[in-house]
Amino acid sequence: MRNLYFYAVFLLFLVLTSTVTWADSSGKITGKTESLSDGADIYKHICQSCHMSYGKGAEGAGARFPALAKNPKLQSGEYVASVVLNGMGTMPWFAVTLNDQQVANVVNYIRTHFDNHYTNAIKPDTVMMMRPHLTEEYE
Ligand code: HEC
Repeated sequence: MRNLYFYAVFLLFLVLTSTVTWADSSGKITGKTESLSDGADIYKHICQSCHMSYGKGAEGAGARFPALAKNPKLQSGEYVASVVLNGMGTMPWFAVTLNDQQVANVVNYIRTHFDNHYTNAIKPDTVMMMRPHLTEEYE
């Protein structure tokens, strides 16, 4: 019985530490994303694993990945850029992984695809001004 308790605590520890590592690891894959410039490529490589193809999202088994398809919140390019830069809930943040141009490209891509028709593109300059202030560790 005691062993079971230990096991449970150990499992909990694993879950906690792995979540932290996962959230922290966003900056460490920079090298792999540098070459991606096209919004569609960035979406496919980074966002699609959670938001699914065509931005249809996914729900079930405790997970909830909101649909980006026909999503009225995408009307604001600043809102989308802020979610991508800072993360949201369990979505990782990409301020270190993606540069201003890449953020603008993927934001503009999802805002003009998947039944979204918001053609007022966000500019890399705007993304730059929205960047969170990062500590030296990431600069
Ligand atoms: C690891 C999974 C994951 C990845 C990768 C991911 N997201 Fe998300 N995203 C989420 C989750 C989960 C939420 C909802 C968070 C919440 O509601 O607390 C979310 C929310 C969003 C929202 C807000 C939607 C709304 O209705 O408010 C946008 C926009 C978004 N993601 C865009 C992106 C883009 C663009 C990328 C790629 C650069 C991306 N996401 C990558 C999991 C992910």
